[in-house]
Amino acid sequence: MLTHLVEANYHGDLQAAVQKALLQVQGTFGIAVMHVDHPSAIVVARRGSPIILGISERASLAASDASALAQHTDKVVFLEDNEVAILEPGKFTITTLDNRSVNRGTTDLDFNIESMDRGSFPHYMLKEIFEQPESVENALRGRVNHSEAVAKLGGLEAVQDRLVHARHLIIVSCGTSYYAGLFGRYVMETLTDLTVETELASEFRYRKLNIREGTVVLAISQSGETADTLAALREAKRKGALVLGLVNVVGSTIARETHAGIYSHAGIEVGVASTKSFTSQLTILTLMALLIGRGRDLSYEEGHDIIRALEKVPEQIGEILKQAGKIRELAEKYCHTDHFLFVGRKFQYPIALEGALKLKEIAYIHSEGYAAGEMKHGPIALIDPKFPTLALALEDGSYERVVSNMQEIRAREGRIIAITTEGNTKLGNLVDDIIYIPRTHEAVAPLLTVVPLQLFAYYCGVLLGRDVDKPRNLAKSVTVE
Ligand code: G6P
Repeated sequence: MLTHLVEANYHGDLQAAVQKALLQVQGTFGIAVMHVDHPSAIVVARRGSPIILGISERASLAASDASALAQHTDKVVFLEDNEVAILEPGKFTITTLDNRSVNRGTTDLDFNIESMDRGSFPHYMLKEIFEQPESVENALRGRVNHSEAVAKLGGLEAVQDRLVHARHLIIVSCGTSYYAGLFGRYVMETLTDLTVETELASEFRYRKLNIREGTVVLAISQSGETADTLAALREAKRKGALVLGLVNVVGSTIARETHAGIYSHAGIEVGVASTKSFTSQLTILTLMALLIGRGRDLSYEEGHDIIRALEKVPEQIGEILKQAGKIRELAEKYCHTDHFLFVGRKFQYPIALEGALKLKEIAYIHSEGYAAGEMKHGPIALIDPKFPTLALALEDGSYERVVSNMQEIRAREGRIIAITTEGNTKLGNLVDDIIYIPRTHEAVAPLLTVVPLQLFAYYCGVLLGRDVDKPRNLAKSVTVE
């Protein structure tokens, strides 16, 4: 339809034709138009969906995500809604749809181009899983004040008082970022006395919002372009909430539209399924909880325990990565199953959901993530020798209850892989296979337990011949509703 509309308005000037055509349409678009009469020009326009221009001496480029441009240039220009740009070799001009000219300078991308190189890794996903000791380190760098046992988050300084004294925090996000948000709720509630709610952005934007004095909305997004998350934050902003972002891609739309925010500094993530961004999000959510908690009633000692645990994570992830060979063997043993159940409680519940999501995204194996306590309300009916379970059974406050759920599974002849704490020798015959993770603080453990689940999904995907970096039907940035 748009093509026909541009054609109907075309009288030799392509940019004018696109402007006129788009003044007649409703809804969202991010388009690139080429015409046979103008072989060296591309006209781009946006409303709602992102368009980013890449500028170099040799070429002018356009993409919907800055990371796609990073191999070609580090100078970009973000197009705003209802703007049209004409790209020609080495130059560009921007106007509004109603033909007012727009002057906009370029922004420097902070992507490290080397991170686009897969090196010796067969897939970006594996490379990104293995980058986690470093990406977690980067998320922490310069953000901890040891002497006061508090977090230093520069991007939040301007709103720190409002955040620390907030009454109600609502976290909105999609996909893997949503599971980070669920973790955020547990960690905020543990370290602060703040009321925290987590909501899928696609639901939140259509709810009747009750934004009161003291409501803060935090949008979490790797790409910073997810349409539902963006729409949710715009709605919250319109209703008067303080709107914050936890975003990976610098300069992305969500990063620009929030009042304040924090970058996760995970580096470019190429694999469609999010891995290192997730652990960076968990790290920063923990730092945010520490910041708020220490401004309220969290003790110095408790603050210190969290910091000590966080600082050990990069090395501990390194230890887990050494088990990649063993996890591959487990994938060989289990990848031909049609179904998988992932269970966990409290801090490990979001990780059960994330583990199941990874396996369905990457290996196309039907998997369910469940709160272990909910097993008896449904999933237990599915358990038989052909329906294995991965149980997150760390030696924490929930251990005995998770073990009792595992006993129920065993009694129905279900096979079990357990993820448990190093040194735990009590599981014996209750499980078929065990993966050990180093001992840590209960609130920090999700940063470790998710890593074997990422590797398990990756190896299942590879063994089943899936396109793990670009799984079918999925996109890295979902810029449509
Ligand atoms: C897509 C991606 C997921 C991602 C989700 C949310 O579905 O495939 O990996 O978790 O979008 O994206 P965001 O960029 O907002 O974190």
